[in-house]
Amino acid sequence: MRIRTLVALPVAAAALAAGLPLVAAGATAGTKDGAGPLVFGHRGASGYRPEHTLESYDLAIRMGADVIEPDLVSTKDGVLVARHENEIGGTTDVEEKFPALRTTKVVDGRSITGWFTEDLTLAQLKTLRADERLPDVRQENTILDGRYAVPTLDEVLALAAAASKRYGRTIAVAPETKHPTYFDSIGLSLEEPLLADLREARMDKAKSPVYVQSFEEANLRDLRRLGARVQLVQLTSARGKPYDHVVSGDPETYADMTTPAGLREIATYADVLGPDKTQIFPRDAQGRTGAPTGLVADAHAAGLTVVPYTVRAENQFLPAQYRSSDDPNAYGDVLAELRDLFAIGIDGVFIDQPDLGVIARKES
Ligand code: G3P
Ligand code: CA
Repeated sequence: MRIRTLVALPVAAAALAAGLPLVAAGATAGTKDGAGPLVFGHRGASGYRPEHTLESYDLAIRMGADVIEPDLVSTKDGVLVARHENEIGGTTDVEEKFPALRTTKVVDGRSITGWFTEDLTLAQLKTLRADERLPDVRQENTILDGRYAVPTLDEVLALAAAASKRYGRTIAVAPETKHPTYFDSIGLSLEEPLLADLREARMDKAKSPVYVQSFEEANLRDLRRLGARVQLVQLTSARGKPYDHVVSGDPETYADMTTPAGLREIATYADVLGPDKTQIFPRDAQGRTGAPTGLVADAHAAGLTVVPYTVRAENQFLPAQYRSSDDPNAYGDVLAELRDLFAIGIDGVFIDQPDLGVIARKES
């Protein structure tokens, strides 16, 4: 199997080292203008940098990502910061800096022991430094542990605006509200500060390059009620149901939400469907993908664009037929997986290695 990557190319490496972008100024993307699906830099360029740091987002932009993706949680003083979950023991040095804050909480029905963003003020959180989430998978990223701060949403929006100006192309931001029902329950609602941050950054218009995502439904509807005009993304999972449905006793599952009728309902409050990629290409017992479901066509028929998650180049995350070896951490033929997804008409893709998304788009 022939495996192609951009990161090994000397020209690309030199450009990145010099802080230069790998895509031309004025380049555009997206199926709406016929130039191909959008590349969403998942947690930045998390395949190459500790996730959710300005350095990870900046690298994603320089690799050609159209969109950068901060997951959002709240600090004790109500500031939105970029972390995948509110428990930050695994992705920061909080254990060394604030050992006494270790505690146990129930979040979305799960008992979790660790350190939580809602127990730190922004000033305290800013003393922390990020660590690689997957040190066994992405050992090379661990040399950067302890170097990069945890950014606020404000800082991520400012980075995207500055990069858009600098590189002459629009860099969008796709913030994801994490655990919105939980944060409501502790008096730290995410929706109001999110809208305030977007307003302050002048990124709150219908045409603003912003996609607000959630795995829950109620908070997306709340955002509309609160006046959100930006694009909203209903994320769905291959199993289970939104946590707000669990709490309210709503029997509707993600499977129900991704039927044609469910998709039409989503289209009444959201613009984009963000499904697990296995909802488009299910895997068989051997982990191989075959024929796609009708989800992309059904979502398009309902008026939704479709941006699946998450493509990752390492073998363990790929369909079995695209793995290069038994080494779970070696790269496989991720370009083939992207080719399959692009061929079925997706409008964008969340990917940990955005440079490879850009290459696959060029080849499609
Ligand atoms: O937001 C798209 C994708 O990131 C959803 O999964 O868990 O990586 O936030 P997660
Ligand atoms: Ca996310």
